[in-house]
Parts: sequence; structure tokens; C-alpha cells
Amino acid sequence: MIILAIESSCDETSVAIVEDGKKVYSNEIFSQIDIHTLYGGVVPEIASRNHIKKITYIIDDALKKANIKQSDIDYIAVTSTPGLVGSLMVGVNAAKVISYCYNLPICYVNHIHGHIYANYIENDFTFPVLALVVSGGHTELVLMKDHFEFEILGQTLDDAVGEAYDKIARVVGVGYPGGPIIDKMAKSGKPVYPLPHVHLGKNSYDFSFSGLKSAVINLHHKYVQNNEEINKYDLAASFQDAVVDVLCEKTIRAAKEFNVKQIVLAGGVAANSGLRTKMTEEVEKLDGVTFSYPSMKYCTDNAAMIAACAYFQVQKENI
Ligand code: KG4
Ligand code: ZN
Repeated sequence: MIILAIESSCDETSVAIVEDGKKVYSNEIFSQIDIHTLYGGVVPEIASRNHIKKITYIIDDALKKANIKQSDIDYIAVTSTPGLVGSLMVGVNAAKVISYCYNLPICYVNHIHGHIYANYIENDFTFPVLALVVSGGHTELVLMKDHFEFEILGQTLDDAVGEAYDKIARVVGVGYPGGPIIDKMAKSGKPVYPLPHVHLGKNSYDFSFSGLKSAVINLHHKYVQNNEEINKYDLAASFQDAVVDVLCEKTIRAAKEFNVKQIVLAGGVAANSGLRTKMTEEVEKLDGVTFSYPSMKYCTDNAAMIAACAYFQVQKENI
């Protein structure tokens, strides 16, 4: 089954052509990071307008790169939710046009499901699977007993992890997007600043990052007010340590409680080196549990993951 997929939920315009959820013929991505860097975050109106400018060219590029005939395509897939509404509309309308012109059915994909299925491109699933979804907009622990069965065990009560990374980077003045920058800085620092590790009690699978975010910002302000220089590398390491500790503790506890066979990371923050390393160490202590995460190119927003997800969705929903 060959699927042409479109992803435009935030600031990446991406089109992919993928066979059976695994064989990626093309995965073209235009990132608007350089455009939004000027504002220190994604400006929705600007994002939609840039999707409009790029979408037809990216579709063209994906088709050329895949080197397949139009008649080889079986389905169109597109991210329909969640995301910035203006951005989503560009992808959905492009998908409708192609569907009409090629006379192909459309599969409307949930962006978070797509992030989870990014793992399937390079690794098979052994159920039950526990997915830690960590992106700019979401933080969730999702239990999957089979393909396309999603049970949310816990989620953030306030900020998403990626959002906290981005906000802190902006306040500390180190650039945008904050995740990869803070991650890199953390490698050169030590977690010496005492920051709250918010576990929300022994039994909770929910998350809260706004208190940690405020603690980092307040500490930084305190140094500025006293005309002292905070060690930004140590601050990055301290923040990352608090985040990774909480994410790993809850994931491992859930893996034990629900006897999962596989843990997967999903979303942009799955690219985080501290999280990958610590989770690898923690999963090694468990018996009979494997651990996987997508390659860097499939961690942040891309259309190949939407195609991988749609491969299962069309079967499940008889599209
Ligand atoms: O999944 P994604 O591309 O977009 C959403 O669906 O939100 O995730 C983007 C988020 C941003 O907040 C970015 O700062 C974060 O992922 N991110 C990282 C890293 N790379 C990207 N966060 C921590 N460490 C990284 N290496
Ligand atoms: Zn995403």
C-alpha cells in the first residue's frame, strides 16, 4: 500500500510517499524555523502563509524524488488535528485537491498518533507498547495493547515539555527552538542548581512542568538582579536533569504496572540526548522490555510518520 502523506500542523511543510508504513520513497520537509526565529516562537498567521507558499512545491518534490507513477498511489493521508488551525487547513485542503484529482480516498490522521507511529518506520511493535509522547504541544504516556488502540495513562496538567524547553531558552536568551540548544548546552554543564523534580505523587502518571519552568526563570532573574552571571550550561544541565528524571520515573513505573514489552519515545523531544541515554539505562534494568526511538529525522514533524500511521488507520477503519 503506497500512501502520499501531508503534514502541516505547525511550522514544517512536509510531504512523504511511503509503502506499507516502512519503505520511505521520499520525505520532503520545509522547516520555517529560520522565519520564526525572528519572533522567538511560531507565529500562527505567518506559519499558515508560508505553508501556502510552499505546499505545491513540496508535493512536487516528494513525487519527483519518489519516482513513482500517480497510479501507484493508493491513499492520501493528512494531519487533521491537533495543531494550528490555519496551518492544518493548508495541508487538509491540499490533500482534498489531490484526492479529487487522483480519485483517491483520504485518511485524516491525528498528529500525536503519527508521532507514535514514527517508531514503526524503523522498528516493529511488540505489544503491549508504552509510548512516551513528548513534543512542543503534548506530554502523554500512552498504552497500546494493539495497533491503533490508544489509552492515555497520564498527561501534562500545564506545559508540554518542549514548550518548557523553548520558553526557558527564550528567557535565558540562547535562541530558538530551545530544545536542541538546551540539550547541547546541558552536555557541557553539571546539574548543580537545585530545581523541583515534580512527580505529583507516587501513583500519578500525569506531568507538570510549569513549576519547574518558573523556578528556572526565577533563578535566572535573581542572578540578573544581583548583577551576577549564572552558569547557563549548569542551568541547562539542571533543568534537563529534572525533566529527564520525571519522564523516566513515570515511564518505567507504568511499564512495570502494565507489563509492557516495548517502550517507545515519540515527538520532537524524543530527539533529546539526555532522555535517550537515561531511558536506555533504565530500560536495561527491566526484564523482557525493548526500547526504541525514531531517528532524528522522524522525531520532529514530518510526513513519513503520518504515512506510517495511516497505513494502520486505513486498515482499522476500512477506509
Ligand atoms: O514534535 P515537534 O516537532 O512539534 C510538535 O508537535 O510540537 O516538537 C517540537 C519540540 C520543540 O519544542 C523543540 O524545542 C523540541 O521539540 N525539541 C527538543 C529537542 N529537539 C527538538 N527538545 C529537547 N531536546 C531536543 N534535542
Ligand atoms: Zn509534532
